[in-house]
Amino acid sequence: MRAQRTLPPSAAPIEWRDLAQGLVGLVQPHVTMHRLEAEFRAHFGVKHVWFVSSGKAALTLILRALHRLSGRRQVVVPGYTCFSVPSAVIRAGLSVRLCDINPKTFDYDFVRLAEVADSEVLCVLATHLLGIGVDVPRVAEICHPKGIFVVEDVAQAFGGERGGKFLGSMGHVSFLSFGRGKNITCGSGGAILTNDDRIGEALAQECAQLPAESLAGRLKNWVEVAATQFLINPSRYWFPAGLPFLKLGETKFYTDFPITRMDSVRAGLLRRWKKRLCRSTASRVNHAEHLLRSVPPHVQTITPSGRGHAVYLRLPLLMRSKQEKDALCRRSGEQGLGISPLYPSAVEQIAELSETLSSQHVPQSTMIAERLVTLPTHELMSEADLVRLCAAVNSVQHNQGLTMNCSSEGPGAGRRVDELPRAN
Ligand SMILES: Cc1ncc(COP(=O)(O)O)c(C=O)c1O
Repeated sequence: MRAQRTLPPSAAPIEWRDLAQGLVGLVQPHVTMHRLEAEFRAHFGVKHVWFVSSGKAALTLILRALHRLSGRRQVVVPGYTCFSVPSAVIRAGLSVRLCDINPKTFDYDFVRLAEVADSEVLCVLATHLLGIGVDVPRVAEICHPKGIFVVEDVAQAFGGERGGKFLGSMGHVSFLSFGRGKNITCGSGGAILTNDDRIGEALAQECAQLPAESLAGRLKNWVEVAATQFLINPSRYWFPAGLPFLKLGETKFYTDFPITRMDSVRAGLLRRWKKRLCRSTASRVNHAEHLLRSVPPHVQTITPSGRGHAVYLRLPLLMRSKQEKDALCRRSGEQGLGISPLYPSAVEQIAELSETLSSQHVPQSTMIAERLVTLPTHELMSEADLVRLCAAVNSVQHNQGLTMNCSSEGPGAGRRVDELPRAN
């Protein structure tokens, strides 16, 4: 553990007045909840909104509701995504079907999607990973004729737009996350949005049965948010980052997560969401643009397809090899730069799913998992941090030659992105 300036990989700061609003939520629960629901309905232009305990809880409820309507059981998810996504599918009692993604855009490989989306598929998740808006209308074009629902996963992209529409307003139904490290946070929380009355009715039935968070749970979350707010500052983050038992940034697959209604303390913490979201989006976009200008040409950047633009929750870069990625992450660890991989593997390699997914291969997703690093873009970064990040990315390029590609293992190893099978 070294007491030095240390950037968290992602951060969504909360101010003391947000914490105070959390306590207001405790004493004015109904006003606080109803105001938040009304604001989200108006912002997204949807009729139905529910606030729940997390993004994965939201996805589980959506899947149960859709299954009530259609009876189908297969859920198409991107080959590379947050482990919470397949865990919600399993928790809903359904099956994961993988579709590979395009390493240049993180959108689906549309040729594969057209093959995978058959008459057994309940829904396809359109995931705006790291705030990079994907082509929801194109997903819908494939899905609609086959009676497949489109679910937008906006967990990492709140505040993003595509073609003049907010991400989250294009699918049949969508969900947001307010977990730590998301665009804005209330500790943990999620929202479900839909304009479809049939889905709304099925969701209302699912949500009517939800338990409320206990008082102890509400207060614990508030205290954790306050502690995180204090420790997330780059001048203090070296301390929690150096405590291995906190397991910060660790990705786990688990299905026993709570599914409750969002409580009014969390809703209170979100009281100033519009201001916070504007500020968060502006800094992420600015920082990402700055970093993108100095990425060396042989590092692959990921840009949205078509008319999209990205909020960049973190800035993704594809290194030429796993060794280059590891070298950059090591250097970041030494210098406290907050550069980190995203998920440890593609969904195909999640140990708990290995039996059920053994015949589903997603080579581009596997390659992404091996070579992807993400750079921080959040509000707590300074100009000097940007300079240090650029220097780190460039130095790894100078020090590690192309020969490093050769010894990497796995399906995509040792090959440049443009040598991989074409996505579409
Ligand atoms: C793409 C994606 N989907 C879903 C989720 C689940 O959200 P939560 O952490 O609020 O359960 C996450 C969380 O990290 C995510 O990144």
